[in-house]
Amino acid sequence: MPDRSVIQLSGDGSHTVVSKIFEDVTYHSRHGAIAESNIVFIDAGLKYHFEKGKDNISIFEMGFGTGLNALLSFLWSKENKIRIDYQTVEAYPIDATVFNNLNYTDILGERQVFESFHNLDWNQSHIITVLFNFKKHLSLIEDLSLDKCFDVVFYDAFAPSSQPHLWELPILNKMYQILNDGGVLVSYCAQGAFKRNLKSCGFTIESIPGPPGKREMTRAIKIT
Ligand SMILES: C[S@@+](CC[C@H](N)C(=O)[O-])C[C@H]1O[C@@H](n2cnc3c(N)ncnc32)[C@H](O)[C@@H]1O
Repeated sequence: MPDRSVIQLSGDGSHTVVSKIFEDVTYHSRHGAIAESNIVFIDAGLKYHFEKGKDNISIFEMGFGTGLNALLSFLWSKENKIRIDYQTVEAYPIDATVFNNLNYTDILGERQVFESFHNLDWNQSHIITVLFNFKKHLSLIEDLSLDKCFDVVFYDAFAPSSQPHLWELPILNKMYQILNDGGVLVSYCAQGAFKRNLKSCGFTIESIPGPPGKREMTRAIKIT
């Protein structure tokens, strides 16, 4: 099926994508794609975990999408000289006609790295730089089995109103299982049912200030 997704400008001048597979849901906040990714995933997840004293960080992302979270993680790793092992899963990759026209690298740089994230083979590990390893799994998250655990999960599924099953116990338990002790899951979603489900899995929950347009977001910590 051809990808009929369309690019849209978000509030901070960075692009987002409107999905045509999932009935007009956007890949990011309409208030600002880069702003949201930085606040929810980089600051509340990656940076938060790093500040606990880690110098090698592994990240698993639910939903590779446009590759924006991967690019921001790469930039963070380069700036802070911290080694990152980044793995991500995607079941419905966007077309080259879409990712080639996104404006992220006009704003952030690293065009070659961004293109490589999209063009490299699926299901294989790639050394992007000495600091950054990258692997993208072409799979439904439901079917994915991983052979390692992670420090940080970027939980970036489409909203519960579009894909309710991705916010329920079976998948959230899977995320709990793939986290190291002390690991952290972050999500833009602050819905009560989501937080209750995370609690049932064993997570300790924090509701923290969200990105523009969202009062709160969720950080869940695995403390065993
Ligand atoms: C909110 S978007 C992710 C945005 C992305 N993190 C970024 O930086 O652009 C959600 C993504 O999850 C993918 N997706 C939806 N259902 C999925 C599933 N069951 N398994 C894996 N990926 C899925 C969608 O195709 C979409 O790319």
